[in-house]
Amino acid sequence: MHLCVRIKVQGALKRKTPIMNFDLKTLDLTAAASEKCDLLVVLIPEGFKPGPDALSALAALALKNGDLSLKAGKQLQLYQVPAVAARRVVLVGGGDGSARASRQAVLAVGGAIKAPHTKRVALCWAGAASADAVGAAVQAVAEASYVYTTTKSKVEARSLSRCVVGVSNVAEVRDGFDNGVALVAGVEFAREWGNRPANHATPSLLADAAKTLARLPRIQCKVHGPAEVSRLGMGAFMAVARGSEEPLRFIELRYNGAAKDKAPVVLVGKGITFDTGGISIKPAPEMDEMKFDMCGAASVLGTFRALGELQPAINVVGLIPACENMPDGRAVKPGDVVTSMSGQTIEILNTDAEGRLVLCDALTYAARFKPAAVVDIATLTGACVIALGGVRSGLFANHDGLAAALHGAGEAAQDPCWRMPLDDDYADGLKSNFADMGNVAGRAGGSITAAKFLQKFVGDTPWAHLDIAGTAWRGGAAKGSTGRPVGLLVHYLLGQAQANVGKAASAPRAAAKPAAKRVPRAKAA
Ligand code: BES
Ligand code: MN
Ligand code: ZN
Repeated sequence: MHLCVRIKVQGALKRKTPIMNFDLKTLDLTAAASEKCDLLVVLIPEGFKPGPDALSALAALALKNGDLSLKAGKQLQLYQVPAVAARRVVLVGGGDGSARASRQAVLAVGGAIKAPHTKRVALCWAGAASADAVGAAVQAVAEASYVYTTTKSKVEARSLSRCVVGVSNVAEVRDGFDNGVALVAGVEFAREWGNRPANHATPSLLADAAKTLARLPRIQCKVHGPAEVSRLGMGAFMAVARGSEEPLRFIELRYNGAAKDKAPVVLVGKGITFDTGGISIKPAPEMDEMKFDMCGAASVLGTFRALGELQPAINVVGLIPACENMPDGRAVKPGDVVTSMSGQTIEILNTDAEGRLVLCDALTYAARFKPAAVVDIATLTGACVIALGGVRSGLFANHDGLAAALHGAGEAAQDPCWRMPLDDDYADGLKSNFADMGNVAGRAGGSITAAKFLQKFVGDTPWAHLDIAGTAWRGGAAKGSTGRPVGLLVHYLLGQAQANVGKAASAPRAAAKPAAKRVPRAKAA
């Protein structure tokens, strides 16, 4: 049993791109001992029953002597163990064997996985593994070994090139493994574009990246420029873009995995490729981090990258309003009133509240797809960072079922979010004397008032808003994009696809094409 998937990490500047392979294999600990690799990681869950093999005996002895604990992430590193082919061996506690514990265990071994001489890793379980645990472990291996290279002249690229995942129950974990590998491709696509500096990730370059996704089966991409956006009447979006020399782009992606008449899920990603604040300019410290202000857009691209691999039975539309927010002689000014595509007028009291301005026109545009649900993803407010920190994304929704599905997907994907309120009273501060609404409502409850602004553009459509300002990137020494919430979004969409197939199966006269045919994996960017 052997499945090999090639993941080509998003292209560097015409440089050879690092390629990482994952293989799923049947391996018990006896077979694992003869697996040739630089590093063998053995996950040992609580309740471990040693077998007759040498690695089991070693683990049992270490446990007995108190040199190893099976709490998730506790580890014992060994070197040149007799009768083991791997140069280095790490025995690591797998905790309760859950996806969360497996992720924790693999990340705890991250240093060894990322070490420069580690080219081949074998990851195996003492005993049976669950599909979710395997998926989570695969993602954790990628997360631990990821290196950003695109704009460095001396590249120390990811050293890891191959990861063998060895389990005793391949058939049971295959789906988890496939999902994990597809998510790695999606998350790394999102991280790459999130991390690129704004001069290497302009709206046009972001649109080009989206176009590469159309090489994947069932994905199409259309890119609208300034003339078309003007014809559409997207006055709020255009107001943000007008202070920049870089022309805006409105990116429209489609993934068609279900019958044509099946209502799609629309994902809308905030694509501010740099946010200076505009005329309401931001202070200098940490302003560089505003290159990450397109991480919502990156998460939509990454989600499509994963859909291209997984080919689920669902229709998805991706919309990305992309532009820079710059101060300039032509820039929009505080107090200016603009007319959104919906016809509603907006007094732009603070040009730094630009995300909601580009999103509101994209949300109006989304209605033309008669969507089953609309989910927008945005690094929208500093207030959300204060409220939830870097652990959970903010979740706002006008529909309890949608909120529950997204919350559950976040838990399952180790990419959690937390529901926030949307009481109408929170919209009071958005009142304006000169337009239908203002674009800000004071400091109090800033992430909620931002969501209330967006809600004015979705009508009755089931809608959710994910504020990822705290979760999309890390600052400080580990500065870099996380690829969140690609995991949450893909889990949610796979759940919706399953529901589609389920409904079609119980109603035989329904749509002729219940499930997506599996198509060969395509090489993609
Ligand atoms: N992109 C920022 C939000 C942000 C700020 C994310 C800091 C992460 C860290 C957004 O465009 C913004 O500037 N929001 C303002 C809104 C305010 C003017 C109402 C904010 O949060 O300060
Ligand atoms: Mn801003
Ligand atoms: Zn912004």
